[in-house]
Amino acid sequence: MKFIDEIDLKNKRIVLRCDFNIPIENGMIQNDARLVKSLKTIQYLLNQECSLVLMSHLGRIKTQEDISNNSLKVVAHRLSELLNKEITFFENPMCSSVLEKSKSLQSGEIIFLENTRFFDYPEILENGNDLQLAEFFASLGDVFVVDAFASMHRIHASTAGISNYLPTYYGLLVKEEINNLNPLVTDIKHPFTVFMGASKIDDKIIYMKGLLKNCDYLLLGGGVANTFLFLLGKDIGNSIHTSSKETLEELKKILNTYQKKIVLPVDFMVTDHQII
Ligand code: 3PG
Repeated sequence: MKFIDEIDLKNKRIVLRCDFNIPIENGMIQNDARLVKSLKTIQYLLNQECSLVLMSHLGRIKTQEDISNNSLKVVAHRLSELLNKEITFFENPMCSSVLEKSKSLQSGEIIFLENTRFFDYPEILENGNDLQLAEFFASLGDVFVVDAFASMHRIHASTAGISNYLPTYYGLLVKEEINNLNPLVTDIKHPFTVFMGASKIDDKIIYMKGLLKNCDYLLLGGGVANTFLFLLGKDIGNSIHTSSKETLEELKKILNTYQKKIVLPVDFMVTDHQII
């Protein structure tokens, strides 16, 4: 795994995959922490006189309505404010004008492509890791940089497939996260207590199991905790939780095996809005 500060990227056209999957309500960004976290890599690459083609997904796209509700335009606008720099947004990433623009990018220029998952409707091309799509993304730059730490577990066209066609390096956010996480799996100091919260438990089970092997306590919150509470027959109203039978079965086993380590919230109530 090579990071961008270990090689010479001077003047390169970089296809940069970030994770800008952030909460947006009625067109208003609710939390821009992931944008702020991406600035270090972006600034570093701009200092190297690179030009940038930014890509990210937003939400999960299964219908035409999802497309209408998940544009990254407002995100591009916010990023431009944070960087105090002009960013050109392309609503249709797979068109000749994007290709032409990418070929003539000047050092310091930034273009931002619309939601990569818009290619998941009507066909599932992004999440299906369609190699033609990946090759198109790759055609927009000289080097691929992954800084989308929160989506690196996805084998999608813009996160994985593209690496078949371009030299690939990792960004500074990924470096920071790995440096922070490494001691938690390689050099464990006890007592070791982990607090874990997430809305989508189904794809977190694998991490939960890994942590449970090594930690003394696992304190759960959010949708993960809700699902355990649901499993234990507690009233959680309509609070976010999984209804996947497979996941619930798996969690039952986890709860039996690690009863003493798993700590669930005890002081909660369901409000009139039917959520905890
Ligand atoms: C996240 O927010 O968990 C990441 O952006 C990944 O999103 P996904 O679970 O929809 O792939």
